[in-house]
Amino acid sequence: MKKIRKMSFAAVTSIIVVSGALIITSAVQAKPPRSETQIAQERAALMTAVAKGDALWHSAKLGNNGLACANCHPDGSATNVHTWPKFQTNLGKVGTLREMINWCIAVPMQGRILEYDSEEMIAMEAYATFAHRGVAIAPAKDEQHGAVPVKSGPGYPRH
Ligand code: HEC
Repeated sequence: MKKIRKMSFAAVTSIIVVSGALIITSAVQAKPPRSETQIAQERAALMTAVAKGDALWHSAKLGNNGLACANCHPDGSATNVHTWPKFQTNLGKVGTLREMINWCIAVPMQGRILEYDSEEMIAMEAYATFAHRGVAIAPAKDEQHGAVPVKSGPGYPRH
């Protein structure tokens, strides 16, 4: 008798959980699809951030020694955007892409680091990530790739 009561309690609990999940799922599904205009606006907002990141990437203003990210990372190269978080030897811990962006501002560029959730930092991340869209992920890229300093090239400062 006791056992049956216990079982029915479990059954009732699972019915409540399942119907709760169904209500949540249907609420999510009930959301109207985004309109073409909304999608265009969202994409424009992203591209504004990418453009801002592009400008910062090619600007020596982030640092204090005349270098820009693009001097060593033309077109966002060697940032290995899809590999984060990971153990990064320079950071000495498992870190994020944003932490590595700040490491490069502070160390090779001798500049002042950005706030992690600042518009600038988000723009830098947006640029580097956008530059890698559609690039096939090679297993070897999970390892670290050194930055390649260049004197000129497509990523050399334009501003
Ligand atoms: C003087 C050259 C130089 C400049 C300028 C430079 N970096 Fe770097 N960057 C490096 C070096 C060196 C590393 C470390 C590579 C390693 O750990 O093997 C690195 C690594 C990175 C990584 C991590 C790559 C990985 O997979 O571990 C990111 C992300 C990065 N840089 C972003 C930037 C950004 C953003 C800027 C501009 C704010 C910048 N770098 C400016 C030299 C530079």
